[in-house]
Amino acid sequence: MNDAVRHAHVTGWGRYAPAQVLTNADLERMVDTSDEWIRSRTGIRERRVAAAHETTASMAAVAGLRAIRTAGIEPEDIDLILLGTLTPDYWMPSTAALVKEAIGNTKAAAFDVMAACSGFVYGFATAQAYIQAGLAKHVLVIGAELLTRFLDYTDRSTCILFGDGAGAVVLSASDEPGGALGVELTTEPRGAYMIWLPAGGSKSPPSPETIARGEHYVRMEGKETYRFATKTLASTALESIRRSGLQPEDIDLFIPHQANIRIIEAVAKGLDLPMEKMFVNLDKYGNTSAASVPIALAEAVNEGHVKVGDNVVIVAFGAGFTSGAVTINWTADPARGIAGDAAVRPEDVSVRLPVDWDSVDPIPDALAELMARPGGVEVPDDVVPGEPERAHSEVHA
Ligand code: ACO
Repeated sequence: MNDAVRHAHVTGWGRYAPAQVLTNADLERMVDTSDEWIRSRTGIRERRVAAAHETTASMAAVAGLRAIRTAGIEPEDIDLILLGTLTPDYWMPSTAALVKEAIGNTKAAAFDVMAACSGFVYGFATAQAYIQAGLAKHVLVIGAELLTRFLDYTDRSTCILFGDGAGAVVLSASDEPGGALGVELTTEPRGAYMIWLPAGGSKSPPSPETIARGEHYVRMEGKETYRFATKTLASTALESIRRSGLQPEDIDLFIPHQANIRIIEAVAKGLDLPMEKMFVNLDKYGNTSAASVPIALAEAVNEGHVKVGDNVVIVAFGAGFTSGAVTINWTADPARGIAGDAAVRPEDVSVRLPVDWDSVDPIPDALAELMARPGGVEVPDDVVPGEPERAHSEVHA
């Protein structure tokens, strides 16, 4: 390889969605809300809920292995693993370290990236920099979240928004032009307490008092976050496009963070682009934070929305406030993704547990009660647990 010019190409992609579906109708039975309110204010119809045996690491490992299979390489070929998450399995070790072992890799450096919903894009940009600097050949970048264990199911303003899942890409070094182009990352600490989780850190270690006050749950100022998101998603995407030497009209598809359909519509309007250029799947998954962009990217490619030569922008915003965008000139054969997904069954992937230690039941009580009720949370008949579900168009047919 020419040492002077290294390009970072997306060679693999994969996703994993837990099988259990939590619909708006289910939420109507938990909090004072309605399917109509949730759909009209957010665009969300349903979201996925991880089963008790699943963790952020287990979901990440399945999505990561699928991306590795799509790339046609072996787990041992990966020399760096970056995992964006705000819901790690433990405070330490990193979830990336658990994933490294679960996928059967012995040589990679592995660490978590904490930039909330922008975590995957921050990880992607970091991977790109490692590759361009000649420090890595194949990097596995994952976004994985298990948010349903950090939600207050009495707070209708947050519990309706979020869901669980994981997505991943492999970025590989090449001297062929194309691949990841211009990057823009921003951090705006004025928004530090607009989306946050108050207790459990060193400022407020967990205690009976913090738990009684519900400080171990996600809190959010929705309106302020909405304002930030609409403005910043557009400006961050534009800067990434500009740094790539392109114009917005040169972009074939945007993969925006899937938080709210109204935010995505506002971004399309701000960029003067039709909604057909915005990939949307939040109706099926809700906001999966750092997992949202890689799940959407893998789904967009597997459903035929991306072809070789297309310019694709991944763009996210999140707590911090953070935002990030990367413009990608797509070079991989889109057909590879479906085979990559099929090659990895979730039941074949396991994360090693600690010796002599059991977690308490991890599912929040309100959710556990709902899931136990007849007619509650569903596992669709035609979905093997953990398999990527029906194609987008079939879901709401
Ligand atoms: N069902 C019914 N009514 C509701 C619900 C609900 N689930 N939630 C709020 N309401 C009520 C409110 O109480 C309020 O009632 P009031 O007028 O009587 O006071 C009314 O609906 C309007 O509430 P708003 O908060 O003004 O509703 P808004 O249109 O702003 O929508 C929403 C709220 C969906 C949260 C929106 O602000 C939003 O999407 N914000 C961005 C959130 C986001 O993207 N977060 C992810 C950040 S990424 C990360 O890092 C985790």
